Amino acid sequence: MAKGKLTTVFFCNNCGYESSKWMGQCPGCHSWNTMVEETVNKNAHKVRSGAGVSPLYSDNKPMKLSNIELSEEDKINTHISELDRVLGGGIVQGSLLLVGGDPGIGKSTLLLQVCRNLSLDKVSVLYISGEESLKQIKMRAERIGDFDESLSLFCETDLSVIEETIKKEKPKVVVIDSIQTMFSEDISSAPGSVSQVREATALFLRLAKSMSISIFIVGHVTKEGTVAGPRVLEHMVDTVLYFEGDRHAAYRILRGVKNRFGSTNEIGVFEMRNDGLCEVKNPSEYMLSGRPVKASGSVVVCAMEGTRPLLIELQALVCHTGFGIPRRQTTGADINRVNLLMAVLEKRLGLKLGECDAYVNVAGGMRLSEPAIDLAIILAIVSSYKDRNIPMDVVTFGEVGLSGEVRSVSMVKERVQEAYKLGFRTCIIPKSSIGQLTNIEGKMNLIGVDTVREALDKI
Ligand code: TYD
Ligand code: MG
Repeated sequence: MAKGKLTTVFFCNNCGYESSKWMGQCPGCHSWNTMVEETVNKNAHKVRSGAGVSPLYSDNKPMKLSNIELSEEDKINTHISELDRVLGGGIVQGSLLLVGGDPGIGKSTLLLQVCRNLSLDKVSVLYISGEESLKQIKMRAERIGDFDESLSLFCETDLSVIEETIKKEKPKVVVIDSIQTMFSEDISSAPGSVSQVREATALFLRLAKSMSISIFIVGHVTKEGTVAGPRVLEHMVDTVLYFEGDRHAAYRILRGVKNRFGSTNEIGVFEMRNDGLCEVKNPSEYMLSGRPVKASGSVVVCAMEGTRPLLIELQALVCHTGFGIPRRQTTGADINRVNLLMAVLEKRLGLKLGECDAYVNVAGGMRLSEPAIDLAIILAIVSSYKDRNIPMDVVTFGEVGLSGEVRSVSMVKERVQEAYKLGFRTCIIPKSSIGQLTNIEGKMNLIGVDTVREALDKI
């Protein structure tokens, strides 16, 4: 342990706010009960923030924008197209990427697959694991497939040793699995604590920028659903990816939450198989498999995830309540939005939903937050309420306003094209959007509606 004056400080687990005394509410992010006690070495901090710190970029001087040259090699292709799309075309050289997700979701598997593809392309890769032994990684690697010799594995958690190794080996891509196991001797608190995580990330940031290495950092998600010290980490890294999905279901969704080099909200869909993660090229087809035939309360909606349209089944179950206060429950949709839409139905169409329990479910475990699914929620609820099924080849989308009007949404063309591709032939969509669909008009039955009442008359 390094010598120096040890002091106790309190860190907010959520935003990294530092305080000398404990507080119930963090003044930084206003969340409650997030302050944790840690001992830090004050002298060690002084050394790091002093004059001896190496600059982020080597030969640092102002440059004209027009003099900076970009080349194709600045983005490294991983050959996993679902991941490349979320990354915005590939791994940007010198970037720091955080991959978060629940334990056991498949972060290590995905990154090992990335390492495999890169090493087959003769890109030098270093996989540093603080969680598994070399033999355990080898066992996982054997399930995944053949590897090239250029992939090096290293089991270490001490940051100073890792720094030395990276400087000596000079790999192009490094994977750190996971940030919560890394520790610096200069800091007395335990691995995984806010100060350790922050210190480790700062070191990797320095290495990434000064040596132009792309570094993937794996971060486990805590019980509260966030990576330990998320804001501390998230603002330091270039890209934040979250791996979501039910651990018991086979599919996994990789979501870009922050990306300095591409658009966010892109998703990549994977399936966990015996031989590792496999890309799902046509997620709409995958999401619609197992759809009930001729059941009331079920409708297909076309939602956008980033630049990609996704067809998803939306289900509702409306039944008479046994209690005074009706029960409302949603999975994958916003409960407040559902309550609002039910109020619209009650007021504008006179449905007696006040006496009914209502359950809304987005099939396939997806979470949808776009207002474009409003019309589908309404159709599903009314279909279940009246016990009348919606034809199987109908797809719908549109935002619903408080007076029951149906408003247009973005990317209409992409949505309708995706529906056509998967064999849907009837679209119930906002009337104002029909004008954009001249190329597909003859092939599909496009029903434009202005109000919710009109939409319900059509089914
Ligand atoms: P892992 O990548 O270890 O998760 P994380 O690093 O996010 O904690 O994934 C482990 C899970 O994946 C485990 O439940 C087993 C499963 N798995 C497969 O189904 N097939 C495979 O080929 C591999 C390597 C793992
Ligand atoms: Mg792991």
